[in-house]
Amino acid sequence: MDNLSYLLSSFVLVFFWLISSASTANTKFFHFNVQYANITRLCHSKSLLTVNGQYPGPNIAITEGDNVVIKVSNHVKSNTTLHWHGIRQIRTAWADGPAYVTQCPIQRGHSYTYKFRVTKQRGTLWWHAHISWQRASVHGAFIIYPKKTIPYPFPKPDLEVPIIFGEWWNEDVEGIEKDIIQYGGGPNVSEAYTINGLPGSLYPCSNKDTFVQKVESGKTYLLRLINAALNDELFFAIANHTMTVVEIDASYTKPFTTEAVMITPGQTMNVLVTANQRPAKYHVAACPYVTSKAPFDETRTTALWLYSKPSLSIDGNQDEPVVTENLPVMRDTAYATKFTASLRSLNSRDYPSNDVPKKIDREFLFTISLGLQDCPRGKICKGYYGGRFSASMNNQSFVRPLMAMLQAAYYNMSGVFSKDFPAQPPRKFNYTDNLLSMNMNPQFGSRIAVVNFNDNVEIVLQDTSLLSFENHPIHLHGFNFYVVGNGFGNFDPEKDRAAFNLVDPPLRNTVAVPSAGWTALRFKADNPGVWFLHCHLEIHTTWGLATAIMVENGPGPGQSILPPPNDLPPC
Ligand code: C2O
Repeated sequence: MDNLSYLLSSFVLVFFWLISSASTANTKFFHFNVQYANITRLCHSKSLLTVNGQYPGPNIAITEGDNVVIKVSNHVKSNTTLHWHGIRQIRTAWADGPAYVTQCPIQRGHSYTYKFRVTKQRGTLWWHAHISWQRASVHGAFIIYPKKTIPYPFPKPDLEVPIIFGEWWNEDVEGIEKDIIQYGGGPNVSEAYTINGLPGSLYPCSNKDTFVQKVESGKTYLLRLINAALNDELFFAIANHTMTVVEIDASYTKPFTTEAVMITPGQTMNVLVTANQRPAKYHVAACPYVTSKAPFDETRTTALWLYSKPSLSIDGNQDEPVVTENLPVMRDTAYATKFTASLRSLNSRDYPSNDVPKKIDREFLFTISLGLQDCPRGKICKGYYGGRFSASMNNQSFVRPLMAMLQAAYYNMSGVFSKDFPAQPPRKFNYTDNLLSMNMNPQFGSRIAVVNFNDNVEIVLQDTSLLSFENHPIHLHGFNFYVVGNGFGNFDPEKDRAAFNLVDPPLRNTVAVPSAGWTALRFKADNPGVWFLHCHLEIHTTWGLATAIMVENGPGPGQSILPPPNDLPPC
């Protein structure tokens, strides 16, 4: 072939490639207006921050491979950002959303259009506001259907139902957060938990605010569970019915059947439930799973699982008593541990787990601690013993910078953050010693860790008993990671590494680090950007339990972050 015809034919090829990739990838458009709406629960009416006036917010449903375009317009005084929790954002970290990490907030009267493509992911995820405590009411489901021709790796359900857990606060949550920042105290506890925005019949003045799922005998339902609560891990069960877990954090699992599940804030889970009991009314319920000594919302939210066929209807059978649920008790760590240990990735021919990193390039050990600072002179503090609460990883308490770290990294600006987050705890000690009460006096700053493109990374998260130990749901943006091991006590590199599951470990984006224990994660750093790593208990993020992992661009084509969009909000 001479040069000219070679050139021509390559042009033709590129042209057809462009046409075909444009036509095979559909684009789904959404317009999200951040605005207030009057919402009443527990006979308490308030002006609630919402998307499009809905609480919970609108669901997003797309198909794997789609381009997603979401225009977010801010109509309120507060700054805002939205995050698509669990979406990998390959090369599009600009659309990830955490304020001051990947973008500056969208200011009043302004818009920002989040654009990204969803590939190699399918299942239940969710979206939420990612600034201050706005996600209390600004959240919704993000459902990715498999491509048309590709079936689920489990029996096709008759109906799919999103079940979003939340918390209702009579007070304005942004005010609660401001108070915490000013006085260093703990959170007010919420008034109620909610299922799809409704507290259910066990609260005062709430009977009519009950979510009802009508079911037919013999049919199977896929419940897409999402824990959007701010500060509480939850147990969830349906009276007399078992659930079969088939997916966690949008990744398929080996099916296993259980009476109750434990789900942390940030996590999602698909369960199959067959309506195979006597036609009646059953409670669907969630209550907190608690490991800390701090005050918490001790209530229980309920919904109804109502057999509407063959004969029962909610009107015709008002007197039929509700069959009540059998949830684990709130401090049942044994149940939570057993449940978590039962989760395995599917590891089938179609969904293999052969990419579990076996050799590691970068090793991190991050301790998780709560702390108490002395109250600055002349100030009022609301933490224990008149101090201020803080939280840290490797003794670093994260302070949100004044501009987005991703932009600072992209434009090589200095002074916004530093790359010296310690790979190991500054001091070794018996992390989980029950008697420990020393204070580590964390350093406050914006330090992050940096890894090379395609590094195989291992992070061991180690809870400590400073101040108190408790279960922490740690979330990493931009990745799914394999949870290769966990346990109680201190991580022992030799003994514990030998027992890692490198065959079918669960693949997640949010992991519950056991109270006074540790969890080991592994992933390949194949996505350039600055990725927030934080506790998904909002109170702990506020106290500083966060950092970020920066993944450098790779050398090859398609291995670096795309340029920032033109409408990226300025600070
Ligand atoms: Cu679900 Cu950093 O978020």
